[in-house]
Amino acid sequence: MFGLLFFVLMAHTAYGDVSYSFPEEMKRGSVIGNIAKDLGFDVNRLSSRTARIDAEGNRKRYCDINLNTGELTVAEIIDREEICGDRLSCVLRFEFMLEDPLELHHVSVQIQDINDNSPVFSKNLVTFEIRESAVRGSRYRLNAAHDADIGQNAIQRYSLQKNDNFQLSINSNVDGEKKIELLLEKELDREQQNEVTLILTAVDGGTPPRSGTVAIHVTVLDANDNAPVFSQAVYKVSLPENAPLDTLVVTVSATDADEGQNGEVTYEFSRISERARKLFYLNKSTGEIRVTGALDFEDEAIYEILVEGKDGFGLSSDAKVVIELADVNDNAPGIRVKSLRSPVPENALPGTEFGIINVQDRDSENNGQVRCSIQQNVPFKLQVRQIL
Ligand SMILES: *[C@@H]1O[C@H](CO)[C@@H](O)[C@H](O)[C@H]1NC(C)=O
Repeated sequence: MFGLLFFVLMAHTAYGDVSYSFPEEMKRGSVIGNIAKDLGFDVNRLSSRTARIDAEGNRKRYCDINLNTGELTVAEIIDREEICGDRLSCVLRFEFMLEDPLELHHVSVQIQDINDNSPVFSKNLVTFEIRESAVRGSRYRLNAAHDADIGQNAIQRYSLQKNDNFQLSINSNVDGEKKIELLLEKELDREQQNEVTLILTAVDGGTPPRSGTVAIHVTVLDANDNAPVFSQAVYKVSLPENAPLDTLVVTVSATDADEGQNGEVTYEFSRISERARKLFYLNKSTGEIRVTGALDFEDEAIYEILVEGKDGFGLSSDAKVVIELADVNDNAPGIRVKSLRSPVPENALPGTEFGIINVQDRDSENNGQVRCSIQQNVPFKLQVRQIL
């Protein structure tokens, strides 16, 4: 009983423990240190004393001892991240045992992190749909990347591909967790650019550093920020006054740079005389203006109409339509006797005026020119006075 107690005391006092620091991921057989030398054993007696490593509770046997040299070697590749996760300190503990007499030494190996892991984002692609009306300063959260390594070998910085609209905003919260956001620096304009693709890179602090990337795809959603624009400010057309019903007068057309309903243009007359409204019809969806009544140049030769183009959400603009009717010779000269002295005294002197006949043609230009003549063989002649 006494002897055993004595031995136990010896084991813990007479011999020291030994500890090493060694990088992870070293290949099998790599030498961590020489236990025999460090603990002061005779290398030649290791075999006879059946020196061995007892891996205590470790799942794997990571280290071995070379009985010929006394060296502690790597038996199985040591992955710090597998054993210790993100713990800052990672120590493998085991016992070095010998018999005759029984001896036991604690051995600890501090596993050094090497930069064997790259930052990884949980996805390769992150998508956002952002309305172009989003204001400057809007923020869009991004998930941080993860790097299994620790300390300097963990993620040290993020960088965002240079672009016109977004910047990266990084803030650490109380737990030291990074909050990463896309910050809208300059408003989007879907009509200029309907999508933006950016690469976000996370870089660790290893030597050399490793990095991981994620693509950020921003679809710019339309806001109804564009009014329809007519292809012409003024549509000027000429139409014969005898144009039949349903004749196409002109097609007005406005385009709207917005999408979908925001860009669907409908047309209507926004200023039109009552008279013109009876003569012309505007197709709301096609912008076609057609004749729906009997035109008459002599009635009104020119129509000025305003047409409005309106998009689905009420933004509008207008254009002027000028319809000039072209005269057609559709009127016969009208002859009206304005005054007449009758009967005529038989002694009337030649040159005596005794009647005024008004001749008019409602048509214009050549169509309105009239020539008047009087039947031959009567003792009268016409004297023409042009009244303009
Ligand atoms: C407007 O034009 C469209 C396309 O040509 C046609 O389907 C529709 O019937 C027209 N509307 C009217 C009221 O004429």
